[in-house]
Amino acid sequence: MKKINPFQPNSPVAPGMFAGRQNEIDALKQGLQQTKHGNPMNFLVTGERGIGKSSLVNYIKFLADGSIKSPDFEQFNFVTINIAVSEKMSLVTLIKLIERNIKRQVGKVEKVRNFLDDTWGFIQRIRVMDSGIDKAQSSEDPDLILDELAYSLSATSKRLTSPEKGEERKDGIVFFIDEADNASSELRIGYFFKLLTELLQQDSCGNIMFVAAGLPETTEKLYNSHESSIRVFSELKIRELEVPERYYVIDRGIEEGNEKNTDQTKITKDAKGYISTLSEGYPHFIQQFSFSAFEFNDDGEISAEDVLEGAFRPCGALDAIGSRYYASRYHEQIKSDEYREVLSIMAENLNAWTTRKEINENFSGTEHTLNNALQTLTNRKIILRNPSKRGEYRLQQKGFALWIKLFGERKK
Ligand SMILES: Nc1ncnc2c1ncn2[C@@H]1O[C@H](COP(=O)(O)OP(=O)(O)OP(=O)(O)O)[C@@H](O)[C@H]1O
Ligand SMILES: [Mg+2]
Repeated sequence: MKKINPFQPNSPVAPGMFAGRQNEIDALKQGLQQTKHGNPMNFLVTGERGIGKSSLVNYIKFLADGSIKSPDFEQFNFVTINIAVSEKMSLVTLIKLIERNIKRQVGKVEKVRNFLDDTWGFIQRIRVMDSGIDKAQSSEDPDLILDELAYSLSATSKRLTSPEKGEERKDGIVFFIDEADNASSELRIGYFFKLLTELLQQDSCGNIMFVAAGLPETTEKLYNSHESSIRVFSELKIRELEVPERYYVIDRGIEEGNEKNTDQTKITKDAKGYISTLSEGYPHFIQQFSFSAFEFNDDGEISAEDVLEGAFRPCGALDAIGSRYYASRYHEQIKSDEYREVLSIMAENLNAWTTRKEINENFSGTEHTLNNALQTLTNRKIILRNPSKRGEYRLQQKGFALWIKLFGERKK
C-alpha cells in the first residue's frame, strides 16, 4: 500500500510541525499579552512567496484562541477573526466579513446575538444602499462607515472583555488579515488601518490587535494609501529558515509519517543535507523537496539519490516549484526570447553575480537589446543589480536558475 506522505507543500504547516521563527513568535506573544491588558499592538508580517507568512499567522491564531498554550504566558482566550484579502475586495465586503465572522464565533448565545444584531445594525443600512450595485460599493462616505465600524467593534470588544452574567469572558479580538498585498487601491487598506486604530484608541478600546500579512510590497501599498499607516504596525520580516530548523522540519515530517503509516521510513544524513541545500531555507521548498523524495523512495530509507531523483525528474519537486513560482515570471512576464536568453546565460552561474561583459560574450543579440533586457529584468525584480559593484547582476534564487536550466526550454 502507498504510504501517506506527511509533507505538505501546499498548505500552511500544522502547529506540531512548525519550525523556527522564535523571535517573531516572541514579539507576537508579547503583543497578545499587551493587548489582553488593554495596551494594543499591531503587526505586519512580510516576506517572499512561500516563506511561511500564513503558517506563522496560523500558529499565532492557535496561541491567541487558546488552542495551544505557551509555557511563558497564561493561556490566551481571544476571539480570532481570519480574513484573506482578495483583489476585488471592497471596503463594504471587508466590513461584512468582519461582522459575519464575529457573529459566527460569539453569537451562539441568544443574549449576545441580540446585542450583536443591535450593535452591528449599520451593516443592514449599507446592505440596502448597495443592493443592485455589482461591486458592493457603497455610496456612503468611507469615513462614516469606518466610524460605525470602530464603534461596533469597540462595543463588541467591551462586551466580550466585561461580559454579563453567564457569558464567557474573552481577552479581546485579534484580526488576522492575510494576503494584504492583494488589496486594491479602492480598498485603501492603509487608510483603513490608520483610521480604525485611531478611532478605537479614542474610544478607549484597548483589547483589539491587528496582524496583517503579505508580500514585501504590502508596505508600499499601505504607504500609498496612507503615508503614516506603516506606523500603526511593528513589521516582522520573515526570512529563510536556518539549517537546524530545516533539519527539524524534515525530521518532524518523517516522525509524523511514521505515526500514520505502518511501514516505517528513515532518512540518511546526506539526504537531509541535500534537501536543506536545495531548499535554500525556503520552507515551501523544504516541504516540496521532502515530499518528492518521500514519493520517489521505495525501500524505506530516503537516500541522497531519492532526493535528487525526486527533485529533478519531470513532475518532480523543481518542476512543481517552477510551475508555481517561476513559470509565470519566465513565460508571461517576459515577452521576448532574447530576454529569456539573458536569463539562461545568467543561470549558468546559478545565483552568483554575473558581469555584463560575460553575458554580452554569450549573448546572440545586440548590445542595445542587452541593455534593455537588463533594465527591464531589473525593474521587474526578476534579476538583482549589485548595489556595490557596477555592471553585475544575478538571479534571485538558485532554484530559479536550476529550473531555467532544466525546464526553461520546455514550452509552457
Ligand atoms: N515554520 C515552518 N515550519 C515548517 N514548515 C513551514 C513553516 N512555514 C511554512 N512552512 C511550509 O512552507 C509552505 C509555505 O508556507 P505558507 O503558505 O505559510 O507561506 P506564505 O508565505 O504564506 O506563502 P504565500 O506567499 O504563497 O501566501 C507550506 O507548505 C508550509 O507548510
Ligand atoms: Mg500565505
